[in-house]
Amino acid sequence: MTQDQLKKATAEAALQYILPHLTKDMVIGVGTGSTARFFIDALAPYKNEFDGCVSSSEASTEQLKGHGIPVYDLNAIADLRFYIDGADESNKHLHLIKGGGAALTREKIVAAVAREFICIADESKAVNVLGSFPLPVEVIPMARSHVGRELVKLGGDPAYREGVVTDNGNLILDVWNLQILDPVALEQQINSIVGVVANGLFASRPADVLLLGTEDGVKTYTAL
Ligand code: 5RP
Repeated sequence: MTQDQLKKATAEAALQYILPHLTKDMVIGVGTGSTARFFIDALAPYKNEFDGCVSSSEASTEQLKGHGIPVYDLNAIADLRFYIDGADESNKHLHLIKGGGAALTREKIVAAVAREFICIADESKAVNVLGSFPLPVEVIPMARSHVGRELVKLGGDPAYREGVVTDNGNLILDVWNLQILDPVALEQQINSIVGVVANGLFASRPADVLLLGTEDGVKTYTAL
């Protein structure tokens, strides 16, 4: 199977996972990226079975609205039963690296609110140690050089993601060559650098469930 076929199968498995729980007043959190796109397409035929969605990016909002699915401001939502989103890497604790699509801050906010975060990914995203994928960090533009120097002190090699402005008007530094042995600690260390908006480690709030698309079918993992 191609990587896209694995992503699509995983997105469809996420739909099957949530279908029995849908209620007419339910709002669903949806993420960003190609796997999330497959999920939105899979969800669309069921739009009359739930109320609407909260979205982690302008791109996903546009796709949802294109399907006629209402998109709500997160501030108006008291209870978010599910958040479904992709990842760039996952370890066995379901600590993630996210932000390949530059949407990490909004993704982190929606994940924080959700009762259950279902991560959907193809098997290439499963790793023993996080860090082969460069860690995205969203940064206030005037702090770019300062944050870059602080990230070097932490052992990383930050690279400015040319031409990318986040939905929040900020920039992304991708940090290479990190071997992330303690994701919870590193997430907090990076967050404490002045000028950092958020970083792509989802360790303090990991996924609750990982649906991993493999050649042998979609496998379901919970954190070890
Ligand atoms: C976007 C993300 C995505 O979830 C991550 O990059 C995975 O993307 P894809 O599903 O296209 O492989 O974090 O900011």
